Amino acid sequence: MIYTLDVTKDLPLGKTVIHALRGITMHVEAGEMVGIVGPSGSGKSTLLGIIGGLDTPTSGIVKIDGIDISRMNEDQLTEIRNEKIGFIFQFFNLIPTLTALENVALPIQFARKPNFKPNQRAKELLTMLGLGDRLNHRPSELSGGQQQRVAIARALANNPPILLADEPTGNLDSESGRLVMDTLRQIRDDVGTTIVLVTHDRELAAQTDRTITLVDGVIDSA
Ligand SMILES: Nc1ncnc2c1ncn2[C@@H]1O[C@H](COP(=O)(O)OP(=O)(O)OP(=O)(O)O)[C@@H](O)[C@H]1O
Ligand SMILES: [Mg+2]
Repeated sequence: MIYTLDVTKDLPLGKTVIHALRGITMHVEAGEMVGIVGPSGSGKSTLLGIIGGLDTPTSGIVKIDGIDISRMNEDQLTEIRNEKIGFIFQFFNLIPTLTALENVALPIQFARKPNFKPNQRAKELLTMLGLGDRLNHRPSELSGGQQQRVAIARALANNPPILLADEPTGNLDSESGRLVMDTLRQIRDDVGTTIVLVTHDRELAAQTDRTITLVDGVIDSA
């Protein structure tokens, strides 16, 4: 489902270059839930962004669902992201003036999938995530854990085969963090979504099927 071969990423820093990724070869099978762990600055977010088509590698190959996205232009990447990938971030990134239902319905309206009725699907997703009684709440009227579950519903809105999450529990207390992890695992089990999540938290990482450890831009094979 996700495949990288010898991916590198150089980032300019003033007159020097940071070698953020230095040859990453990995694969994630359909329906797997994989954790990416490693110290701060080891390249986790950079790798997730490249897998998700938010960024392109300096060298190497990235395949998503069999499609080589390594050399795609911005328009092509946008299409891949819309078709294949849901993103979840540490800081929820919900639109504050919209209700939970409207936040989830918005990407469905944009995608114009004829058999997805935006409000109906948003309601179904939020109900599945235990927020059926919070549909008309705005983000400021929800707890952090509830906001993150709205963000998960939004990420799932157009039924992407892949869910990518960067520190999805990083802004939550441990109880809400566990609930969000339970939610992600439930999605994997019920919908079969392939999930890659970055986390600092060893305890949460232990709840994934498998972890990949990055150290200084390479996979730690130890
Ligand atoms: N836009 C950028 N320009 C230059 N260097 C960058 C940029 N973004 C990240 N880096 C550098 O690339 C390396 C990898 O960064 P990355 O954000 O992927 O690390 P991370 O593992 O996600 O860290 P954290 O756990 O703190 O989020 C770091 O050395 C960082 O300083
Ligand atoms: Mg990061």
